[in-house]
Amino acid sequence: TPISRIRNFSIVAHIDHGKSTLADRLIQLTGTVAERDMKEQLLDAMDIERERGITIKANTVRIEYPAKDGQTYILNLIDTPGHVDFAYEVSRSMRAVEGSLLVVDATQGVEAQTLANVYTAIDADHEIVPVLNKIDLPASEPERVREQIEDVIGIEAHDAIEISAKTGLGIPDVLEAIVTRLPPPHGGDADAPLKAMLVDSKYDPYLGVVVIVRVVDGVLKKGQRIKMMKTGGTYDIDRIGVYRPAMQDVAELGPGEIGYITAQIKQVRDTRVGDTITTEKKGCETPLPGFKPSIPVVFCGLFPVDANDFEDMRDAIEKLALNDASFTFEVETSAALGFGFRCGFLGLLHLEVIRDRLEREYDIDLITTAPSVIYHVFTKDGERHDLHNPADMPDPSKIDRIEEPRIKATILVPDDYLGDVLKLCQDRRGLQLDLTYAGARAMVVYDLPLNEVVFDFYDRLKSVTKGYASFDYQMIGYREDNLVKMQILVNDEPVDALAMLVHRDRAEMRGRAMCEKLKELIPRHMFKIPIQAAIGGKVIARETLAALRKDVTAKCYGGDATRKKKLLEKQKAGKKKMRQFGKVEIPQEAFISALKMD
Ligand code: GTP
Repeated sequence: TPISRIRNFSIVAHIDHGKSTLADRLIQLTGTVAERDMKEQLLDAMDIERERGITIKANTVRIEYPAKDGQTYILNLIDTPGHVDFAYEVSRSMRAVEGSLLVVDATQGVEAQTLANVYTAIDADHEIVPVLNKIDLPASEPERVREQIEDVIGIEAHDAIEISAKTGLGIPDVLEAIVTRLPPPHGGDADAPLKAMLVDSKYDPYLGVVVIVRVVDGVLKKGQRIKMMKTGGTYDIDRIGVYRPAMQDVAELGPGEIGYITAQIKQVRDTRVGDTITTEKKGCETPLPGFKPSIPVVFCGLFPVDANDFEDMRDAIEKLALNDASFTFEVETSAALGFGFRCGFLGLLHLEVIRDRLEREYDIDLITTAPSVIYHVFTKDGERHDLHNPADMPDPSKIDRIEEPRIKATILVPDDYLGDVLKLCQDRRGLQLDLTYAGARAMVVYDLPLNEVVFDFYDRLKSVTKGYASFDYQMIGYREDNLVKMQILVNDEPVDALAMLVHRDRAEMRGRAMCEKLKELIPRHMFKIPIQAAIGGKVIARETLAALRKDVTAKCYGGDATRKKKLLEKQKAGKKKMRQFGKVEIPQEAFISALKMD
């Protein structure tokens, strides 16, 4: 196929605005998949993605479309991850295509991720075709949303296409627009040395690592010996093909084409999104611009509830890591929790997905410690320590200053809830940068400490706005603040899994709240238990959990032995979800609940 008859595009949208449904319709209408094989949300392969309705890993599909001009075009759709945590991957995959369909739910309008994603597309020099979805719904207001797109995003929207991805209305117009309004791939010299972008990779238990590539120059062929320019690895290509969306082998991929290769690559870690692939011999000289590896920003400890599960957990984590290079882990030992793993994630959602998969797919009960960001701790000798775990904090007398990561958060919210959102951001040490209106919605921009966002900011935001706010963020750098390490002592023993860095001015309040929560969450024991929050040696908050008066079996005194035995067994089962701290048992849920701020 000549390059003039190829169109590469992505679909950008806020969550739930109908991206996957539209992709399904495009695939269906072009007969790419036989009707009987069509299932909802074809591109969302993993169970969790299906369940939560979110797209985690980018996927691609090749569609053949006979256009009105009588020619058949090849349309390559790259489906990008929808969530903020995967922003870097989104921006890379967008560089592999030339245009975007901007899908906006005509009943909702522009949301925070609409903005974030469309700006990423504009940064990648995309031609953009606005599409107004869900016009089958009586609540849809295509005219209003058209204006909003022009006002807020600043792109032409009078020729936005009105569709219903659900009923199929307007889909043929979308296909025509892809051909007539989006450009063919730029340049592309089939005779030049091979230059291809590594768009994505995933692990397949039968094929090993499958790499998604976009050829820029040259031709990719079976048997070629290729080289990854940044990571330096060299491999022989075994298979080469395209997704339709099932894998279909082809002989070669030329300039402008998107497809997959397999090459006996053992783990996803050996492939880096954004790397340039060339041939080992007579390769291209300069790689594609702008490569940067994605790095974890949120860390937490994951420990098996049952210490006997540690080896199973290691297996499970290694398997997950095969398919996810952005997730890091190392063994961690905690005085209180025993052996576990310190894991790094791209963001909170990423953390949740991994934790969920470990619990569900591998059936391991976990204790998750408080998520933490990476602090830059500067000691008086002038050195910088990157602190991933509050437990590793250097001696306070040696510390010169501590810097914390900050984010720029963009929140879109209906006017009615604006006051609550401002209060929430203010409570989380936010600095307001901007406040503007986009129709009946306010757009607020805040500079916030990432640390105040990682825990439950998103949940709180959803609850104070009844789900009407949308949120997006990006890292903006590090700044010094008055941060101290707060420890929690239960029965005079420090529980390292509950240690955290807090702002000095907020330490008392946080400490008091945690002690009160723990008092509710820890069951009474036979003795009195002091629960304290402390900074250095100084106690800043304290609660006391009274002793249990009666033995649990006391009320069975004189009763029959089986009942007594049953009661003791029940108690023993209850213990499984507890961890022993010195003489005290703390239930698993205490670790998360104690950290939630209400
Ligand atoms: P992510 O993949 O999670 O980013 O979401 P998405 O943008 O792909 O949204 P998805 O396609 O999953 O659609 C979200 C919901 O809207 C689903 O329940 C769809 O059935 C519904 N939906 C999508 N398009 C339409 C439409 O045109 N009309 C109506 N009434 N519902 C639609």
